[in-house]
Amino acid sequence: MKFPLGRKARLAVLASGRGSNLASLIEAFPPGDPTAEVVLVISDKPGAAALRRAEDAGVRAVHVPWPDRLSFEQQAQTLLEDARVDLVCLAGFMRLLSARFVDDWEGRILNVHPSLLPLHKGLNPHRQVLAEGVSQTGCSVHFVDSGMDTGKVVAQRSVPVLPGDTEETLAARVLPLEHALYPEAVRLVLSGEVAP
Ligand code: GRF
Repeated sequence: MKFPLGRKARLAVLASGRGSNLASLIEAFPPGDPTAEVVLVISDKPGAAALRRAEDAGVRAVHVPWPDRLSFEQQAQTLLEDARVDLVCLAGFMRLLSARFVDDWEGRILNVHPSLLPLHKGLNPHRQVLAEGVSQTGCSVHFVDSGMDTGKVVAQRSVPVLPGDTEETLAARVLPLEHALYPEAVRLVLSGEVAP
């Protein structure tokens, strides 16, 4: 499948926690939007706030347990296919997907990461930023490949690192940019302007 589709795209979001990026995607692509609609939310965590946010917005929300990667991916794949999903958005999804799953969704799976990739991949990016003493950080939306935060970058935004910053103040500065960036990046991919 290649973008643009020539019709409205069906999005799924995979989230493990709070779901603020999910909320920004739902808000950016409401049911009447001509570009895309969030049709499915999957979480590996039963009580995730992301599931509640989806339900509140009238979006199908499913907890898929993670006893092991294969079992999760098989169930998730069935749900994604049944919902005829075109693009998968990872948003605070705290698991690493297998190369096989990612290959199946090649060019159709995105992630948001709170750093200027390829810098500060993986866990605790804000801690890495402070430890290195760099003067800028930000957020990136990227295509997902089988590595950790290694796929091609679709779009980025940067913020300054200020004296006295902590992981919390940096996260609070970067998060609103993620919320603006993710829908923008989804539009870039759906329009075919950025391809893997
Ligand atoms: C975001 O900072 C995202 O970039 C990172 O985890 C956080 C998830 O936040 N991967 P939320 O669940 O979208 O509120």
